Amino acid sequence: MKHSKVKTLLNSTKSNYEVTVKGWVRTFRNNQFIALNDGSTIHNLQCVVDFENTPEEILKRITTSAAVSITGNLVESKGAGQKYEIQVTKLEILGDSDAELYPIQLKNKPSLEFLREKAHLRVRTNAFSAIMRVRSVLSFAVHSYFQEKGFFYVNTPIITGSDAEGAGEMFKVTALPFDGTPRTEDGKVNYAADFFGKETNLTVSGQLEAETFAMALGQVYTFGPTFRAENSNTSRHLAEFWMIEPEVAFNDLNDNMDLAEDFIKYVIKFTVEKCADDLKFLEGRLLDEEKQKPQAERSEMTLLEKLNFVLQNDFKRVSYTEAIDILKDSTPNKKKKFQYPIEAWGADLQSEHERFLVEKHFKCPVILYDYPAKIKAFYMRLNTDTEPGKETVRAMDILFPGIGEIVGGSQREERFDVLVEKMKALGIDEQELWWYLDTRRFGSAVHSGFGLGFERLVLFVTGMTNIRDVIPFPRTPMNAEF
Ligand code: 4AD
Ligand code: MG
Repeated sequence: MKHSKVKTLLNSTKSNYEVTVKGWVRTFRNNQFIALNDGSTIHNLQCVVDFENTPEEILKRITTSAAVSITGNLVESKGAGQKYEIQVTKLEILGDSDAELYPIQLKNKPSLEFLREKAHLRVRTNAFSAIMRVRSVLSFAVHSYFQEKGFFYVNTPIITGSDAEGAGEMFKVTALPFDGTPRTEDGKVNYAADFFGKETNLTVSGQLEAETFAMALGQVYTFGPTFRAENSNTSRHLAEFWMIEPEVAFNDLNDNMDLAEDFIKYVIKFTVEKCADDLKFLEGRLLDEEKQKPQAERSEMTLLEKLNFVLQNDFKRVSYTEAIDILKDSTPNKKKKFQYPIEAWGADLQSEHERFLVEKHFKCPVILYDYPAKIKAFYMRLNTDTEPGKETVRAMDILFPGIGEIVGGSQREERFDVLVEKMKALGIDEQELWWYLDTRRFGSAVHSGFGLGFERLVLFVTGMTNIRDVIPFPRTPMNAEF
């Protein structure tokens, strides 16, 4: 007989029929009650074992995380907490799990840090199974949004020769040996002898390639892994993360902000509707976590209240210049509470500043735009009406409560001469980006796009606080286990 999913059975409209389920034992109480989970839902299915007629050797093998196949009658449950349960008639142990050796002992309330080291098993816990189901639904929502709007999904290369962000935080890709590396006459590594015949790296962003596609297909998006070798060991940074990058021909910066806001609201709404049980569980988890904090540091809203708040309110749009004025006059700045005090226009914003603006000042998601050209990437469109020394670019970052920057984007510099000038000034090799410059040579047009860090979105939606807990197997400095 084909087995049923726990989720289907719990939503059943009839009872008193024979079913088979397969899954993993969460708990086994009083030699009688198995809480069975098969991953289809946060909820367990209670399976009642007829212990008097079950051999002792079998009962002993019903341990946490053992894989079992259970057949029995699905009946309405007399116990509190569940609508249905199974009265077991046949129980087969598919895979034993030695209770002494199983690393995750739920009664000890394992910490998130501990579970990170058991990332191959943590997904068998309620919290991580909920997070990973939410993550899956969120990624479906991303495709659903863009496909409904007539965007095309483009798979930009993972291995590339370009540094899209010009930040030099790249992982090299090479097939050259470390011992006896071929050298040129002047002693440099001879990449001409390497696999691709040139220097290559893992991509930091698919944007530049996506731009070429936008200039033909009109509206495109990427959704794939990106890599950064920045050595920032924070709760917001991964060395390998997933980024969503839409790129749209004929969109200016305002259109870009509208798109980003609409997109974020859509995917959150989609997930709130589809993941009610998981989010309810994660909301409870967050409440428990917050109880450990002093009253003043606790969030004023529950997880679902926060998500609904984002859905119901406009994001506040503020120029960089206005933001600097607010920060300069802010209490933490005057009281020297910021680690990086804001002294003058032109300062790069640190996460402490972003979080002040979002969490203390505006108390809602904020879109900052028109940043100083000096602190942003080469491809952003230069504003023409600015004072010398105070040049700005048509950049925008979206800042979220508890997260900081969730989106970075811009209107792109479509003017060939201005772009080349900018690249020269920054020492970016025109030869290397000949193909990118071609888009400005042939049929150039206004266009815009942004990048949304998928894990930062998952953080926000699940109410988790460390980015290592929202990706299956995190890659961070000194950590690439699994
Ligand atoms: O602001 P970033 O660097 O922008 C770009 O890469 C542009 N090329 C995007 C574009 O316009 N198409 O990165 C975009 C987003 C950030 O806002 C952040 O959410 C996320 O990517 N991000 C990271 N997420 C996790 N770990 C890291 N190390 C991240 N670096 C950036
Ligand atoms: Mg950025």
